[in-house]
Amino acid sequence: MSTLWTQRYAQRTQRMHSSALGDLLKLTEPSSVISFAGGLPAADMFPITELQEACQRVLAEHGARALQYGPTQGYRPLRELITRHTARYGITITPDHVLVASGAQQALDLIGKVFINPGDRILVEAPTHVGALQAWNSYQAEYVSVPLDAEGIQMDLVEGALRSGPKLLYVLPNFHNPTGITLSLARRLKLMAQADHYGVPIIEDDPYGQLRYEGEHIAPLAVLDGRLHTREAPPYSGNVLYLSTFSQTLAPGLRLGWIIAPMEVMQRLVHAKQGADLQTSLFVQMVAHEVAQGGFLDHHVRDLRVIYRERRDAMLMALRHYFPPEATWTEPQGGLFIWVTLPPTLDATTVLQEALAANVAFAPGPAFFAQGGGHHMMRLNFTCMEPDRIAEGIRRLGGVLTHCMEQSA
Ligand SMILES: Cc1ncc(COP(=O)(O)O)c(C=O)c1O
Repeated sequence: MSTLWTQRYAQRTQRMHSSALGDLLKLTEPSSVISFAGGLPAADMFPITELQEACQRVLAEHGARALQYGPTQGYRPLRELITRHTARYGITITPDHVLVASGAQQALDLIGKVFINPGDRILVEAPTHVGALQAWNSYQAEYVSVPLDAEGIQMDLVEGALRSGPKLLYVLPNFHNPTGITLSLARRLKLMAQADHYGVPIIEDDPYGQLRYEGEHIAPLAVLDGRLHTREAPPYSGNVLYLSTFSQTLAPGLRLGWIIAPMEVMQRLVHAKQGADLQTSLFVQMVAHEVAQGGFLDHHVRDLRVIYRERRDAMLMALRHYFPPEATWTEPQGGLFIWVTLPPTLDATTVLQEALAANVAFAPGPAFFAQGGGHHMMRLNFTCMEPDRIAEGIRRLGGVLTHCMEQSA
């Protein structure tokens, strides 16, 4: 039945729908389900007491200011803190290069609003972060996708993709969501050189960079870009927009992320944000600043690394023990995710139905591909539960896989 509304929706809504992953997460809500499906940090590690105390201090000492409207670009002391933290990775910026957003998800949306016309192509990894696809689908983006291997995006395929004229290149160099893969330094250098050669700007999405459990830190693309151009001044005027978030280091419920951008882009992003929500909650920014300053954040991230490393190791051990030998998986050096490749005869979406009946869940591969694929792949999140529960969930899932393989033989 056609209503008055039906003929009035904008064309862009045809590409807006809830992600298959979002729908799936609803099925995994009952506590009997051991769910590896979400992208969740550990709720048992949220700094609840520190946040509670910070809320009280902010309201007691700066209540009137915290509850007033604030600057669109963000609370200056928080932008200064982000500037100092970013400098440790060699990214030289001023607070004027930082826009505080309501989560990195809003940062992705603002980038879409500022850059994407209907039909513009974005070069993405295959697989890639589903939230980016969801944000950019609403701006009617098209995609050209390049597969990953163990070292990240496959450079022999990138050049062809760049030649096809994408407007932007979106890449997750550290502990990639969904695969956990880290882009090697050699490939980062090649990627920067090629993107520069073809004049394609880069969106570097780095929510997990601080969550490294082993191995050496690798320079962000934003740093390599600066070296490539050895500019005298001004700082940070190159070809990379860098995104990160407090979701992984404090809590996702704060909805606090940021974009680092050259000044000319910053102006446009600020205009876009003004139209979207005027500002990110000043109260929340002040609370996050209050908690993060004075060394707490560093201390807390160190604790997270220890706990997450144990949980990753528990999952890897359980996979070796319980999964059929035909399955393979990544061994991430950090982040939240392990990516499993099943024998191609298995369909992860079908396996999921059986897994849910056994009270265990994962995220099936196809959701993460812009142009199809991944039917026999799955993402497992290892950070949000204790090692014993991880082992029990992987045991259940291993049993389901073995059963599905016997049936498909
Ligand atoms: C790669 C990537 N980018 C962005 C986000 C969004 O983060 P936020 O919670 O800051 O919106 C996530 C969260 O899952 C992510 O994995």
